[in-house]
Amino acid sequence: ATLESPPVSQPSTQQAAQVEQREVTILYGSETGNAQSLAKDLEEKVKKQDRKVKVAALDDFKPKDLKKVQDLLIVTATHGEGDPPDNAISFHEFLHSRKAPKLKDVRFSVLSLGDESYEFFCQTGKEFDKRLEELGGERLYDRVDCDVDFDEPASEWIDGVIGELEKDNADAGSGTASAGQSDQDPSLTAGQPIYSRTNPFNAEVLENINLNAEGSNKETHHLELSLEGSNLEYEPGDSVGIFPKNDPALVEELIRELDWDAEESVPINKQGEVRSLREALLSNFEITRITKPLLKKAAELFNNDDLKEFLASEKDEDQKAYMDGRDLLDLVKDYPPKGIQPADLIGILRKMPARLYSICSSYQANPDEVHLAIGRVSYHSNGRERIGVCSGQCAERVEPGETLPIYIQKNENFKFPTDGDTPVIMVGPGTGVAPFRSYLEELEELEVEGKTWLFYGDQHFTTDFLYQVEWQNWLKNGVLTKMDVAFSRDTEEKVYVQHRMLESSAELYQWIQEGANVYVCGDEKKMAQDVHDTLLEIFQKEGNMSAEQANDLLKEMRQQKRYQRDVY
Ligand code: 2AM
Repeated sequence: ATLESPPVSQPSTQQAAQVEQREVTILYGSETGNAQSLAKDLEEKVKKQDRKVKVAALDDFKPKDLKKVQDLLIVTATHGEGDPPDNAISFHEFLHSRKAPKLKDVRFSVLSLGDESYEFFCQTGKEFDKRLEELGGERLYDRVDCDVDFDEPASEWIDGVIGELEKDNADAGSGTASAGQSDQDPSLTAGQPIYSRTNPFNAEVLENINLNAEGSNKETHHLELSLEGSNLEYEPGDSVGIFPKNDPALVEELIRELDWDAEESVPINKQGEVRSLREALLSNFEITRITKPLLKKAAELFNNDDLKEFLASEKDEDQKAYMDGRDLLDLVKDYPPKGIQPADLIGILRKMPARLYSICSSYQANPDEVHLAIGRVSYHSNGRERIGVCSGQCAERVEPGETLPIYIQKNENFKFPTDGDTPVIMVGPGTGVAPFRSYLEELEELEVEGKTWLFYGDQHFTTDFLYQVEWQNWLKNGVLTKMDVAFSRDTEEKVYVQHRMLESSAELYQWIQEGANVYVCGDEKKMAQDVHDTLLEIFQKEGNMSAEQANDLLKEMRQQKRYQRDVY
């Protein structure tokens, strides 16, 4: 089944009508919403050139329309393992198949988002770029691969693409790029600030409660944040981005190790804003990871022959092994820099990226608040206890009354029905249950009656049953129709959510035949993969399907947005 193409935005003025303008198609593959919002930024700029422009998720674009495309701009994220995001899978597959048309007269450019600390950095973007060229497209502007601090390179790409498109106007001797442009500050509407990733809202912490009981292996913090005065809104499935602060103890130790003055001023961006070294290391830069580019830049900067030698002679795997589980403190201890200034070191660090957490409250029920469930991450490596930057901060250093810089990240790939007609199956072990609390709270608030079924799992019933009383209330008042739980460490043999799904396979398949949507949230590599395989198994068993037919059905469900995942 093909989805409808999104509506075409018409040019706002007649100014450029005298020349035949090439139509611009912007397609995005979004993982967390960043690619999508960059695609929208680009759309705004293209519109100002009075061009026809279409924007769509890669999978919402009809492959057969590829033949008609003129200027194709792709903005795409990549999954950690180098796979395309869920809303780009089928387009990616089509483009790489024999059915892909020749792209004569097509101009294209690709912006890829990724994370340098992963091996398959920006893989999906690289593949699109290569394939579009193979199919005969002409590269309008070189691909840009962005690391997690993507703002600067992404806007350079956007400006570069816009510059190329502008050349058409200049060639045609018509239209101006700034047609219709206003000088208005984009972060203000009618004097009201608009809070976003680039202009975060300082949300007051109202509550911070550890949901796990004593004796648990886990620490999950339920945070309630105030949105009062922010004008921020959200829907079930959306996330909150938090800009965290590094552990002050780690920052102090790093500064001590380098024997620098914590109060020395350092630049924190290209615009020349300055802060004290301490503040910069606390809030503006990432110091808890070593990536390949950082290692390379350090080798150039540190005047340390051992590091140069390590980089020149060690195999890739050894370098990877070194970077794994080490941080900037390890690096400067192992390879002390000689004769460098604080600003030099700052200059090679990645900007601190925000951390995304699925929202676990309903805006309809609490318009002035947003709730999150944040699991504290910690592990031991290379002789030290390491704690997740944001989850550690929330677990250890965030008190009610303080504020956190946040923004709302829309998630188009995780949307729930509120019509009451679509049965909903939810699979969310651990903190993966968050968006389902948001959804059920919303259904209750809106008094929507429908069929809902939740699969929840964690280690122990007595210590780890997150939001237990709430599920029980919703079961009682009918907001939640069914709930199955799997406590993996209460029995000799492990039981997981997918085992519970399999136990109820006939009924689960029945729900799907009645049109149920399936949502999976939580751990990607293990849980979500096993749940995926279990769904295929259930289709085969209950629907008498071959492996291939089961696969096709699940793929179709994904395309129709009846199978949606928010996994990490
Ligand atoms: P475990 O820690 O006992 O292995 C939430 O973290 C729950 O997900 C825990 O009960 C955890 O079990 C479980 N879990 C771990 N691996 C899983 C997998 N592959 N599939 C489903 N659940 C899993």
